[in-house]
Amino acid sequence: MNQEYTCKVLKRVMLTSDTAYLTIGCADIAGRAIPGQFVNVSCSGFLKRPFGIASVDKVNGTFCIGIKIVGEGTKELASIEEGSTINVLGPLGNGFDLGVSDSFILVSGGTGVFPVNFAYETLRDSGKKVTMVQGFRDKSQVCLTCDDYIVTTDSGDYGIKGTCIAGLDTLSPDENTVVCCVGPIPMMKAVGNWAKDRGLRCYISMEQRMACGIGICLVCVCKVKAEEEGIPFNHVRCCKDGPVFDFEEVIL
Ligand SMILES: Cc1cc2nc3c(=O)[nH]c(=O)nc-3n(C[C@H](O)[C@H](O)[C@H](O)COP(=O)(O)OP(=O)(O)OC[C@H]3O[C@@H](n4cnc5c(N)ncnc54)[C@H](O)[C@@H]3O)c2cc1C
Ligand code: FES
Repeated sequence: MNQEYTCKVLKRVMLTSDTAYLTIGCADIAGRAIPGQFVNVSCSGFLKRPFGIASVDKVNGTFCIGIKIVGEGTKELASIEEGSTINVLGPLGNGFDLGVSDSFILVSGGTGVFPVNFAYETLRDSGKKVTMVQGFRDKSQVCLTCDDYIVTTDSGDYGIKGTCIAGLDTLSPDENTVVCCVGPIPMMKAVGNWAKDRGLRCYISMEQRMACGIGICLVCVCKVKAEEEGIPFNHVRCCKDGPVFDFEEVIL
């Protein structure tokens, strides 16, 4: 069921100079969302903008999104006043299946930190073993972190110098560990291959450019391996069939 809600922005904080974190009131979305799902948020531009759900509070009926300013839509949404209302469609997409294992490594790159944060909170609250690896460009981008996390920066001015692979290389996961990753495609490819080399399952979230967000316009298609013989690949819609896919399934 795709439902649009008019929601109140209850709180807005700036996590970094160009990234806002909004707490939004909507008991329905907070109650139904699972980690890896996203919402499509209206702005004055023609199309809604997709954002991963970063946290939910079922008791108070709120959820959070993080917005990094990259263009006009995100600039407008990141500067929205507390108390304003916004139109939100969601929760959308399929999310991570966190029931598949009792042990997870979560890996985020850039704004992937937001959906991965929701997965972390859910796994932590359910008592499962979870290790967080966060990759950022540099210290100025570091957000939603804590002392228990492994943090890497490309610049080396915070945490381990290098990509999140440098962080993953500090770990010795057991064979039941499942890796979940959200970030830029080259990063997810590297993380997927890191997991594959160790015989671990890996799920990635494809943050393609989107329009409708509900499977109608086909703007967001990506290629997956075809099951039928003689067909090189099939197309799937990242918004509706994903955004979460098995790394082995997607053609990156
Ligand atoms: C499923 C999903 C979840 C997302 N979650 C988050 C999130 O939690 N936090 C967050 O800050 N952003 C997230 N994004 C990206 C966010 O939706 C875009 O940055 C936003 O739509 C850009 O809108 P704009 O009007 O500001 O920029 P535009 O003017 O539309 O674009 C400005 C620049 O951003 C690039 N861009 C636009 N959309 C994307 C995209 N999907 N992926 C990569 N680059 C893009 C454009 O190529 C262009 O260079 C997510 C995207 C998807 C598809
Ligand atoms: S964004 Fe329209 S089909 Fe995915």
